[in-house]
Amino acid sequence: MNDLESYFRNNDKRLIHKWAHYFEVYDQHFSRYRNREIVILEIGVSQGGSLQMWKSYFGDKAKIYGIDVDPRCKELEEDNIKIFIGSQENPTFLQEIKAQIPPIDILIDDGGHTMNQQIISFEELYDHIKADGIYLCEDVMTSYWVTYGGGHKRSGTFLEYSKNLIDQLHAYHSQQRSLKVSEFTNSANSIHFYDGVVVIEKSKRVTPPHHEKTGKDSFDSPTAGKRPFLSRLKSHLRYKGLLHLNKLLQKLRIKGFIWR
Ligand SMILES: C[S@@+](CC[C@H](N)C(=O)[O-])C[C@H]1O[C@@H](n2cnc3c(N)ncnc32)[C@H](O)[C@@H]1O
Repeated sequence: MNDLESYFRNNDKRLIHKWAHYFEVYDQHFSRYRNREIVILEIGVSQGGSLQMWKSYFGDKAKIYGIDVDPRCKELEEDNIKIFIGSQENPTFLQEIKAQIPPIDILIDDGGHTMNQQIISFEELYDHIKADGIYLCEDVMTSYWVTYGGGHKRSGTFLEYSKNLIDQLHAYHSQQRSLKVSEFTNSANSIHFYDGVVVIEKSKRVTPPHHEKTGKDSFDSPTAGKRPFLSRLKSHLRYKGLLHLNKLLQKLRIKGFIWR
């Protein structure tokens, strides 16, 4: 059992409400931040227990901020814990918060869990996460729950939105104009999907991805020796043709050919 789960199991302070398997996920991504001067923002304060848990886990050097729509949460402030009252669905409120707090190392969205709330918070706050920080959105199973605006493959859910982020992460490899390198492509290192949790780890990309080879060939390479011009032209035209055909099929929403 890790320290977070152990804190949770022995908790006699303010109430915490978490899915049991989240502690493993938190510890995996958060442990490197312990005992450092970091900034944490959790959306969704409720009874204040999780903010106290972060304080105990990360140590006295961590500055912890909370957001909740319930005005009573303001009473739960204490040393190193500051709470803002307002809605995570309100972009103006979120912009005001960005003006008041330093860039964030770790953001945890455990607020109202509706599709709009999760998407608006991500869109407004992602750029306020440090270049090597973490954005964690939890309870994303609401993307399947109709009362939260979810539904399997329903457009507009947070998980459908996150699936598009997978495309953006790979945009340097795109052969279609519909997928272009974005701010997200250049700032995200990885996206992790767990049951109920999406974690985005940031890292600034300074150069496009490239591959390299080291070591010696074990077999003759199929391209060894110079291929005749006509053979190379034929491959090139075949490749270009397939590219256009794939584009047309994509528009018609038919699966494209696989290049072999
Ligand atoms: C699941 S609870 C948070 C639990 C807490 N993080 C914990 O681990 O014990 C969700 C909280 O989100 C708050 N909330 C709901 N809608 C919100 C909104 N639009 N903006 C900010 N907070 C919201 C609720 O008031 C509630 O306190």
